[in-house]
Amino acid sequence: MARSGKVTVVGAGFYGSTTAQRLAEYDIFETVVLTDIIEGKPEGLALDMNQSRPIEGFETKVVGATTGTDGSGYEQTADSDIVVITAGLPRKPGMSRMDLIETNAKIVRQVAENVAKFSPLAVVIVVSNPLDEMTALAANATGFPKRRVIGQAGMLDTARFTHFVAEALGVPVASVNTLTLGSHGDTMVPVPSACTVDGKPLSEALDQATIDALVDRTRNGGAEVVALLKTGSAYYAPSAAAARMAKAVAEDSGAVMPVCTWVDGEYGIDGVYLGVEAEIGAGGARTVVERKLTDTELAGLKEAAEAVRAKQADVANL
Ligand code: 2OP
Repeated sequence: MARSGKVTVVGAGFYGSTTAQRLAEYDIFETVVLTDIIEGKPEGLALDMNQSRPIEGFETKVVGATTGTDGSGYEQTADSDIVVITAGLPRKPGMSRMDLIETNAKIVRQVAENVAKFSPLAVVIVVSNPLDEMTALAANATGFPKRRVIGQAGMLDTARFTHFVAEALGVPVASVNTLTLGSHGDTMVPVPSACTVDGKPLSEALDQATIDALVDRTRNGGAEVVALLKTGSAYYAPSAAAARMAKAVAEDSGAVMPVCTWVDGEYGIDGVYLGVEAEIGAGGARTVVERKLTDTELAGLKEAAEAVRAKQADVANL
């Protein structure tokens, strides 16, 4: 089997390390690089993952690299095709993603500058929170073409919504299709009109009160996990989402996924990073795919755009 390309995951916390593991286990990349500022941690995790190769049956090599804020260690990431930025602090119970903005802005800016220096042609996938703002900041700090920097949120929020619907109905997750757009936060826009169970509208399977409760649970899906874990935030579903996006880039698949990308004119919304569906390929988000939304859903998306636009303007100065 032909393996090719290099993908770097910045940040070896649970989110970063599980993302690296999933990417390595796909067995499609030549190299997965995992970095962290904690000395020895990425090297130790890489060694451990490499030792799982004979058991799991994959050949991709995992490389660990300790990095410094001055850019030291980044030479091991040089010429990556894809860089997944997971660096930054996770939430603590009771915190909103927005509470992380100042701390994570500094971290993501410094990482993005080093990514631009060492991997000038990479597609960047941002997962650090607050997601929509950190994606905008990474685009700004790298100076990359806007559609080459994308954020992971919609895949995760949609997966959570699908899980909740499947669980409520006692059906396989494979029978359920759901969709969330908007921000990865308070202005997340679950799109019931796009949701189906065995191809039939969700509204035929569940009453409105139940749908509303599941929408609410989806919107608070990350906080629910944070409250249970007490330290750290979710990583199994988030890493699955980020890794699938990286795979779509690597395979230039054109898969349509809900992601945070630059929206400029679509849905009548101008110039903002926002969660919408996009075709994902070798250059990042090839094109935004517009679908017919109800008036309420479109109003929700526009409201989300204005909420994140204001915050994205703030990060330019952080
Ligand atoms: C979440 O929603 C980490 O933001 C991520 O769990």
